[in-house]
Amino acid sequence: MIGIIGGGNMGEAFIEGFLKAGVDNNEILVCEIDEKRRKDLAEKYKIKVCDSIDIVGKTQKIILIAVKPYQVKEVCEKLSNTLKDDQLLISIAAGVSLKDIKSYLKTDFKNIIRIMPNLMVAVNKGILATSYYQKIDKDLLFDFKHYFSKLGYIYEVDEKLLDAITAISGSGPAFISVFVESLADAGVYIGIPRNLALDFALNAILGTVSMIKEKKLHPATLKDKVTSPAGTTIEGLKVLEENNFRALIYKIILETFNKTKKVK
Ligand SMILES: NC(=O)c1ccc[n+]([C@@H]2O[C@H](COP(=O)([O-])OP(=O)(O)OC[C@H]3O[C@@H](n4cnc5c(N)ncnc54)[C@H](OP(=O)(O)O)[C@@H]3O)[C@@H](O)[C@H]2O)c1
Repeated sequence: MIGIIGGGNMGEAFIEGFLKAGVDNNEILVCEIDEKRRKDLAEKYKIKVCDSIDIVGKTQKIILIAVKPYQVKEVCEKLSNTLKDDQLLISIAAGVSLKDIKSYLKTDFKNIIRIMPNLMVAVNKGILATSYYQKIDKDLLFDFKHYFSKLGYIYEVDEKLLDAITAISGSGPAFISVFVESLADAGVYIGIPRNLALDFALNAILGTVSMIKEKKLHPATLKDKVTSPAGTTIEGLKVLEENNFRALIYKIILETFNKTKKVK
C-alpha cells in the first residue's frame, strides 16, 4: 500500500509513525539502496524491503519519496515509466516544488502531494504542511488524509509557504533540541545532577507548550505570569534581551529559509 523510497532518517520516522499508529507491517515496502540499512530496517520493523524503485512504482498505491533533494530527479525519472492514474506520489524533499517534480516525471501525472513534515511523525506528533495540485484524484486525497493524519497534524498550505515552514517545523526540532540540551547543561553548571537537569528542562518545555496550547494563551501572557516585579525571572530575561536572543532566532530562521531555497 505505502512504498517509501529512501530509508534514511525521515523514511524511518515515517515507518515508526505508521506502525505506531497501527498500520500493518505488510502494508509498508521500503526501497533503500544501502544493503546494510535495508537489512536493519527489515529486521527492526518486520517490514518488506527492496532495492528497486521500479518494484515500488509497479506495486504501491501510495509512494513516498524520502531521499535527499538532489536525488529526487533521478527517483522521479525512474518512476515516470510506471506511474498510473490510480497512484499517489508524495515528496517530502525540502525545496523541491510540485512543478519540479512534474518536470522530472515528464508526464501529465497530477496526483502529486508535497509535504514538509518533521521528525515527530515517528511519535505521531508530526507537523505535515501539505500542498497539491487541485486536479488531484479525490479518492487518493482521501486515502492520503486517512493514512497521514495518523502521523500528526496535517495543514493544507499555499506551496509558497513551504520553504518558510521548513525552517520552523522541519528544522525547528534541531534548534529546540539544542535549547533543551543547553538548559540541562546550565542546570548541571549550577549543581543539579545531569539526569534531573535534563528531566526538568524537558518537562519545563513540555509544560509550557501544553499550557499555551490548552489555555490558548499568547506566549507573552505566560511569560508575564512567571515574571514578578524585581524578581528572579526578570533577571534572566534581561540577559536574554541584552544578548539579542530574539534577533538571533530571526537570524537562525532566515539563514535556514535561505538555505532551503538553495538545496536542490
Ligand atoms: N531530516 C529531517 O528532519 C527532514 C525534515 C523535513 C524534510 N526532510 C526531507 O526528507 C528527505 C530525506 O531526508 P533524510 O534526513 O531522511 O535523509 P537521509 O537520512 O540521507 O535519507 C535518505 C535515504 O535515501 C537513500 N537513497 C538515496 N537515493 C536512493 C534511491 N535512488 N533509492 C533508494 N534509496 C535511496 C539514501 O541512501 P544513501 O545515504 O546511500 O544516499 C538514504 O539512506 C530530504 O529530502 C529532506 O529534505 C527531512
